[in-house]
Amino acid sequence: MNTSEQRIKIALQKSGRLSEESLDLLTRCGLKFTQSKDQLFCYGENMPIDLLFVRDDDIPGLVSDDVCDLGLVGLNVLEENRLGASKAGKLAAYDQLRALNFGQCRLSLAAPEDFDFQGPQSLQNLCIATSYVAILEDYLQQENIKADIVYFSGAVEIAPRLGKADLICDLVSTGSTLAANQLREVETVLESEAVIIQTSAETSDDKQCWIDRLMQRLDGVLQVRESKYVMLHAPRGALDDIVALLPGSESPTVIPLDRNGDKVAVHAVCRENVFWETLENLKGAGASSLLVVPVEKMLA
Ligand code: PRP
Ligand code: ZN
Repeated sequence: MNTSEQRIKIALQKSGRLSEESLDLLTRCGLKFTQSKDQLFCYGENMPIDLLFVRDDDIPGLVSDDVCDLGLVGLNVLEENRLGASKAGKLAAYDQLRALNFGQCRLSLAAPEDFDFQGPQSLQNLCIATSYVAILEDYLQQENIKADIVYFSGAVEIAPRLGKADLICDLVSTGSTLAANQLREVETVLESEAVIIQTSAETSDDKQCWIDRLMQRLDGVLQVRESKYVMLHAPRGALDDIVALLPGSESPTVIPLDRNGDKVAVHAVCRENVFWETLENLKGAGASSLLVVPVEKMLA
């Protein structure tokens, strides 16, 4: 790893909804970094992998042009870039390696609360404000709708109040931005989450080796992130019901708690997050002393 040519560059969102979790994910993969003074660059200390902090909208282009080898970006930004490029007669040159299971949000149509939405045909001849022109155009075309699109680079949610549009098409995650602007989500156009992409340009064997290694660690991290270790007590008779309720668990360990084994302790690794509802259902099925703990590392 002599020249900077041989080092892998990963593009990340500088500040925004994906920034913190993107960096956290790479740190969990065992990467250690020194951050540059301007905080736009991170030098990888223990692997030939460096980070570049950029605007999220620039990430697909940087990876497509092979300026960066990898990029962590929202599917919404990626899809907008891909459709935009294809309309301009260009090909977006990247491959999606993994979905990263964070940054979930959706690109949705939203209308003032009193708008009578009866499906896509209600959009006919109306005016929609968005930062996602290519995705919206594509959606309208598929639905066979003619509508005007007004481009807003930000603060799309104020367009209807300004009289600039009838509806908006924007990202929704908690829904609080819409609520604060008296808008109602009426239709999902695209479901989004963070993904990792790699340039389709040729990659040296050396670099590819490191990328493969990173992906292997990433798979481990993604699996463990969701996994929980669940412990509970249960009457033996309720065992089948209880095991059926444990999300994504295989062959739990059953330990007798009394002489005749009428009461048992169940220990299980659940490969999905365990929510309060699940715990309440388990309790309803006869479980008691429920304990859910995070899993630190896993090696199958
Ligand atoms: C999006 C969108 C809304 C907000 C919705 O912007 O434009 O303003 O998030 O989130 P909520 O449903 O949780 O209120 P984002 O923060 O992604 O900024 P960007 O579009 O400038 O990248
Ligand atoms: Zn953005």
